[in-house]
Amino acid sequence: MAQRIKLGLIGCLLCFVLLAAGGGSIGGYAQSHDAAGARAAFLEAYKVFAHPRCVNCHPAGDAPLQGDDGHPHAFRVRRGEDGRGVFAAKCSNCHQTQNQSGEHAAPGAPYPPEDREHLSEPRWHLPSSATPLTFEKRSPAQLCRQLLNRKQNGGLAPEQLVHHVSHDPLVLWGWNPGGGRSTPPLSHEDFVQKIREWVEKGCACPK
Ligand code: HEC
Ligand code: HEC
Repeated sequence: MAQRIKLGLIGCLLCFVLLAAGGGSIGGYAQSHDAAGARAAFLEAYKVFAHPRCVNCHPAGDAPLQGDDGHPHAFRVRRGEDGRGVFAAKCSNCHQTQNQSGEHAAPGAPYPPEDREHLSEPRWHLPSSATPLTFEKRSPAQLCRQLLNRKQNGGLAPEQLVHHVSHDPLVLWGWNPGGGRSTPPLSHEDFVQKIREWVEKGCACPK
C-alpha cells in the first residue's frame, strides 16, 4: 500500500517536471509554460470579457441586458432554450444582420462569411440555456476556469477559442456596436493577441 502511494507520488512529480520543462503543444500551439506571463495576459483580456458589449449577451440570468449599466432588456425579452427568445418575442424580430442606424435602434450582426447557408438570416441571440457561457459577475479566476472547461464553454479547445475571438461576427460587433455605444478598452487586435499569449504561455488562470 505504502509502496503504491510512493509510486503515485513519483508519477505526479515526474509529470510536473515534464510540464515545467516546457515543450508540449495544444493543437499545434507552441507552448512555453510561463504561468506568470499567462496570468498577466488573461487579466488584460478580461477587461474585454467584463465590458458591457460582451456581458450584455453573456448574462448570469435568463434575459439579455442593455446599455453600459447592464439594465434588463426592455419588453421583458427572455433567453429561451435556444437563446433566440420565447414565443413572439424572438430576437430576430428586431435584431437584423446589421446595426439599424440611429440612437437606441436595435444592433445586429451576421453569421460568419463561411456559413453561406445562413448568410441572409439574422443571427443575434444569447447562448442556449444548457450552455449559458456566463461572463456577468465572473471574477477573472472563475471566468478563466470556465473558458477551459469544455462542458461550460461550448466544447471549444483553447486554439478554437483564439479562432472564435478573432473571427466571430458577434465578437467583432463589440468594436462596431453602432448607436454611439461604447467599445471595450483594448483594441480587437490587442485582445486577440492577449488571448493568444495566454494560450501559448500555458493557459494558467489568475488566483
Ligand atoms: C448578440 C449576443 C452576443 C454578443 C454581443 C457577444 N456574444 Fe459571445 N457568444 C454569443 C453566443 C450566442 C455564443 C455561443 C456560440 C454561438 O452560438 O455562436 C457566444 C460565444 C462566445 C464565446 C465562446 C464560448 C466560450 O465561452 O468559450 C466567447 C469566448 C465569446 N462569446 C466572447 C465574446 C466577447 C469577447 C464578446 C464581446 C466583444 C462577445 N462574446 C459578445 C453571443 C454574443
Ligand atoms: C421588440 C424588439 C426587440 C426584441 C424582441 C429583442 N430586442 Fe434586443 N434590443 C432592442 C432594441 C431597440 C435595442 C437597443 C436599445 C437601446 O440602445 O436603448 C436592443 C438592445 C439589445 C442589447 C444591448 C446591446 C448593448 O450592448 O447595449 C442586447 C444584448 C440585446 N438587445 C439582445 C437581445 C436578445 C438576445 C434578444 C432575444 C432573446 C433580443 N435582444 C430581443 C430590441 C429588441
